[in-house]
Amino acid sequence: MEHELLKVKNDASSLIIAAEDEKELNEIKLDFLGRNGKLTQLLKRMKDLPEERKPEIGRLANEIISTVEDLLATRGEELRGEKKEKIKRAVEDITIPGVKPSLGHLHPMSQVLFDVIDVFKGLGFQAADGPEIETDRYNFEILNFPKDHPARDTQQTLFLDTRKSKATSGETILRTHTSTMQGRIMEKIKPPFRVIVPGKVFRYEQTDASHGFEFWQFEGYAVDKNITFTNLMGTLDYFVRKFFGEETKIKFTSHNFPFTEPSLEGYVSCVVCKGKGCSFCKQSGWVEVLGGGMIHPNVLRNVGIDPAEWQGFAFGTGLSRLVILKYQMDDLRLLTNPDLRILEQF
Ligand code: PHE
Repeated sequence: MEHELLKVKNDASSLIIAAEDEKELNEIKLDFLGRNGKLTQLLKRMKDLPEERKPEIGRLANEIISTVEDLLATRGEELRGEKKEKIKRAVEDITIPGVKPSLGHLHPMSQVLFDVIDVFKGLGFQAADGPEIETDRYNFEILNFPKDHPARDTQQTLFLDTRKSKATSGETILRTHTSTMQGRIMEKIKPPFRVIVPGKVFRYEQTDASHGFEFWQFEGYAVDKNITFTNLMGTLDYFVRKFFGEETKIKFTSHNFPFTEPSLEGYVSCVVCKGKGCSFCKQSGWVEVLGGGMIHPNVLRNVGIDPAEWQGFAFGTGLSRLVILKYQMDDLRLLTNPDLRILEQF
């Protein structure tokens, strides 16, 4: 009997502590202390006990009953308190503005990237993406840079260590320009097409305020019938006005690239001094932003397009440079600095 009483006490205590609402608590109360409750049933058997044990068991039974009653009362209060707290919370002033989570935003590099893509999408260009680790073939060979061509020197190429792989030594590099994607795409699709390719490029350069060994470019090219040099200049003029503002001017000088003929370089009027001359543009009023030209017939032939039937223009611009020009930053390295004090200014 003693054991049974203690067991009932333990069962009741653990159930009471775990009860989650008042209804459950009432059920527990009935289950133990009700007319047919477990404790009540046990007490009914008291009369069968030998006379000398009755006072002792009686005291234990009373103790257990009052412990269970106390526990029920305490848990009941707790539950009522929680309910009140819940109601209180629900009627708190809901017009007080909440705590605003601080939202991040796109990196200035990405913002500019999307702006550029938008302008060219409007002109019917499609955006494409390609590998940063490249082969000599796409970075040079297809683009009319034969193995001994001096223009290869201008590309300050980073070669990958391929000694432990099957690749031919000296053939696997980090792409030095996004022009690699001319060959990769033109080999696969048939003209006419208009493509832009934004992406990261790498060159073996000493880093300073206006040079990095890793920077962004974007390439654009169009192949169709009767494409002219004027189409290229018109497209670039439209782009800089859309991107920097209608008042921006563009000027072209002649240049030389192995993969375009004729070639040009494009300068925009300095966004800082509006062309008057300042330290940003080295007093010239102009900032160089791009290279371009008519796709060389050899390049078209290398990808299986007949240059007698199709012509194309191509251009490449330093996307990182466009970003610092647009936001008038004085150091390219700020773009790869993860400092929030810089990034939060955009
Ligand atoms: N790829 C050249 C560079 O990185 C730019 C360019 C692209 C020039 C397309 C002409 C045509 O300097």
